[in-house]
Amino acid sequence: MDKLVIEGGSPLSGTIRIHGAKNAALPILAASLLAEGVHSLHNVPKLLDIETMLNILGRLGCRAVHEGETVTMDTSTLSTSHVPEDLMRQMRSSIFLMGPLLSRFGEVTIYQPGGCAIGERKIDLHLQGLKLLGAEIEESNGRISCRAARLTGSDIHLDYPSVGATENIMMAAATAEGTTTISGAAREPEIQDLQNFLNAMGAQIIGAGTDTITIRGVTKLHPCTYEVIPDRIVAGTVMIAAAATRGSVTLTHTNAGHLTSLIHVLRRAGVQITVCNDIINVSCMGRPRAVERIVTSPYPSFPTDLQSQVMVLLSLADGFSVIKETVFEGRFKHVEEMARMGADISTDLNRAFIRGVQRLYGATVEATDLRAGAALVIAGLAAHGTTVVEQAHHIDRGYDGIELLFQKLGARISRKVPVPGPFDLAN
Ligand code: UD1
Repeated sequence: MDKLVIEGGSPLSGTIRIHGAKNAALPILAASLLAEGVHSLHNVPKLLDIETMLNILGRLGCRAVHEGETVTMDTSTLSTSHVPEDLMRQMRSSIFLMGPLLSRFGEVTIYQPGGCAIGERKIDLHLQGLKLLGAEIEESNGRISCRAARLTGSDIHLDYPSVGATENIMMAAATAEGTTTISGAAREPEIQDLQNFLNAMGAQIIGAGTDTITIRGVTKLHPCTYEVIPDRIVAGTVMIAAAATRGSVTLTHTNAGHLTSLIHVLRRAGVQITVCNDIINVSCMGRPRAVERIVTSPYPSFPTDLQSQVMVLLSLADGFSVIKETVFEGRFKHVEEMARMGADISTDLNRAFIRGVQRLYGATVEATDLRAGAALVIAGLAAHGTTVVEQAHHIDRGYDGIELLFQKLGARISRKVPVPGPFDLAN
């Protein structure tokens, strides 16, 4: 497995362009199945999760080419609504295929995507929503078969604003008969992007970005050309890295409106931030201040996907901070790794108590999941000495070459790819 080797301790500086949003592109790629023909999708980042989704779509019969940041995909050759178990297991986001395939074929067979490193990640809200649209669902031994000759609009209330369930229901309802209302919907910017994409294909959806989304079903959608929004989590990761290294960085191609809660927290920590159109400047000249309390919860509150990264900054702050994680139960795995680097953090069930230290020190640590891995890279950039982040493939799921990104900002970071041994070559 690849490792990242970081010689830390130097401030980041320079300008970086932020790539398109993984969490917007994944449901959009799935939603493109709703309309037969050739779609052209721009600002689609070259990440492991996107390549996995394109592989899955290819195995289902679609023809897709990812050149630069544009995906050209022909969905007219889609040939099956059965997503094999091995493909479902490759990526949790394969669950997004359920709504579009059900809508296109009147049936779909998928498998439980399974648990994951950050928590249980159930799919009950996805299934309840599809049932209310008229799907008959049978589950046995992890295999889930859904059938509906024609989906019909319904009033659906989500007890929790699940991002994925909101998106799956929007996709399934886009061509259902009649009107669907989702109350208690998730409000993330990626949901607005999905609404905009579906409407560009001819859907009639309003309300994304609020907790009530109304979808007037249409009989047919058409392929389209679309540009995905910038990745707010990658932007946030870079902003926190700039602050943690006491550097000065300019981010371009961003949407600061999607980062309000992070900007608020960083300013409370004493980080200077200026925004002009799609450009954000971040600089931090002295030691950051502690932030008394941060609580992760659904948008527009502080994102769980930036929790581990901001914890690195607070581990270097002057004073005592508390972070409460309310979205995923297993999201403190980076804490143990950070302790190896000298951080002073203790946890109870879902709270982390962070006593800021003057310095972190380089160590060998392991990326246990995507965002925890990104946090350890930031810790390595800020630390004195050499840090080795093992299991770097987790980070590749969501960042288009994180080492290249930080190299552009002056960081001394490189990737070590294992040399195959004789047994690997024989196989
Ligand atoms: C999406 C993001 C992920 C982010 C998360 C929360 C994508 C591809 N991924 O994941 O990066 O961390 O939002 O912002 O967009 N839940 C249920 N039942 C369900 C669905 C979810 O109980 O049917 C629970 C989950 O276990 C979790 C919480 O709801 O505790 C949030 O999950 P959800 O909003 O669905 O996140 P994802 O869509 O999986």
